[in-house]
Amino acid sequence: MEVRFLGHACFTLSDGGSTTVLIDPFLTGNPRGAISADDVAATTILLTHGHQDHLGDTVAIAKRTGATVVAITEIAGELGAEGVDARDPNLGGTEKFDWGTVKLVPALHTSTTPNGTVTPPAGLLINFQDTVVYHLGDTCLFSDLALVGKRTPIDIALMCIGGHYTMDRTDAVEAASLIGAKTVIPCHFNTFPAIETDAQAFKSDVESATSSNVVILEPGDTHTT
Ligand code: NI
Ligand code: MN
Repeated sequence: MEVRFLGHACFTLSDGGSTTVLIDPFLTGNPRGAISADDVAATTILLTHGHQDHLGDTVAIAKRTGATVVAITEIAGELGAEGVDARDPNLGGTEKFDWGTVKLVPALHTSTTPNGTVTPPAGLLINFQDTVVYHLGDTCLFSDLALVGKRTPIDIALMCIGGHYTMDRTDAVEAASLIGAKTVIPCHFNTFPAIETDAQAFKSDVESATSSNVVILEPGDTHTT
């Protein structure tokens, strides 16, 4: 399985073949976006929440590729009204695909779409061909992050570390400890000045305090399991 970082909180999960799961496709206007919204592949698009730096190019990519989108109920309703094929779970709900499943789990943040739709934000607990990937979405540190890893052993956690809009790299060390993933890949940092941070310091702190390995990806880089 290939996990490719496309900048900010955007990733693709791929089997190297015809299946590509695209998460939080903010590419147009992303100063560190690794690929154009016109070129990215997607068979399914997963959204953590409605902020523009996550919703991003979802509608255009879904219409170009025909990808099904999974988003929390009210955001899915908004996408459906724009002609996108959208599935609408709420927190706790699981959607099944031929590549695996995605469950929405809590995140602690805000979420309003550019059109004004207000919802809670989510994290994404993804089982992609038996590899478990947990995209935390935008969140602060909160103790229920531990429940996710307690219920489902996590192979890879995609974790915000940039501070200001989310937890910072020191709170994210505690989050990594609560979640207990085999591998942690940091994101949501260095896209803008407000979220600049030291990912190498995060890596050394996590690897000192926990048994997780941290893999720092530059936009465009791929981690292969
Ligand atoms: Ni946000
Ligand atoms: Mn964000």
